[in-house]
Amino acid sequence: MIDKRPFLTTTDLSFVFAEQLHVLDGISLHIQEGAFVALVGPSGVGKSTLLRLFGGLLPPTSGQVLLQGQPPLAHRSPIGIVFQRDGLMPWRTVWDNVALPLELQGVQKGEMRNGRIQAMLDLVGLNGFEHSYPAQLSGGMAQRVSIARALVHEPALLLLDEPFGALDALTRERMGQELLHIWQAMPVTVFMVTHSIMEAVLLADEVLVMNGQPATGNPAKITARIPINLPRPRHLEMQATADFQQDVATIRQAIAGFP
Ligand SMILES: Nc1ncnc2c1ncn2[C@@H]1O[C@H](COP(=O)(O)OP(=O)(O)OP(=O)(O)O)[C@@H](O)[C@H]1O
Ligand SMILES: [Mg+2]
Repeated sequence: MIDKRPFLTTTDLSFVFAEQLHVLDGISLHIQEGAFVALVGPSGVGKSTLLRLFGGLLPPTSGQVLLQGQPPLAHRSPIGIVFQRDGLMPWRTVWDNVALPLELQGVQKGEMRNGRIQAMLDLVGLNGFEHSYPAQLSGGMAQRVSIARALVHEPALLLLDEPFGALDALTRERMGQELLHIWQAMPVTVFMVTHSIMEAVLLADEVLVMNGQPATGNPAKITARIPINLPRPRHLEMQATADFQQDVATIRQAIAGFP
């Protein structure tokens, strides 16, 4: 269920790379606590840049990002991030990759830490692969390790940058369903960048559309916000319904229809 309190707020957010490339301009939006929000838009428009601003990995050039009134890095709960390119450490086992955020937080080895790592591996279905190395995993399994790692320190905000972009269509559908189970099992607000309009509609409460062309001097803005009113729990079969197809068409037009 969606709580009505705003969790993430941006006010007139702008970002310029290296005082040259004006990527984002005038982005003002609210994301409700516990919501699942997806962002779609053309390649190179600025989606990953916005996600990095949400995570406090880039400072705004002007304007603000606030999580419950605090800048991202000052917020009391950690933020979980799954990057566009799988960022697992190849020399660490699955277990040790998932342990990393806890190590960085200074959580000492022991029962509590082990319990959290095990619970996350159970949640993403990787029981039995604790001692495997990333090179021994399929692409879908590696992405599940990334998701477990992003969730292990119990973040209030989970930022996903095309988490399933490198997966085949079937694995991708299955991972989307798993992500919904995880989101329903944990009190976490999810912001996911995706290239798949169908995936955005199937998973999200709301789809944001970003348009612009920063490379030619036209910084990106959020040009549409489309609420998805399909009932939950969501199933793959819903893709055949008229409501689903209407939402997909609306979003496609909102991307293609931008001058
Ligand atoms: N570190 C950087 N330094 C300078 N420019 C950058 C940097 N990272 C990205 N850009 C530029 O900023 C713009 C937005 O990039 P961004 O990665 O946010 O796009 P995106 O929407 O995530 O694209 P994609 O869908 O291909 O991942 C692009 O024009 C890109 O060339
Ligand atoms: Mg990107």
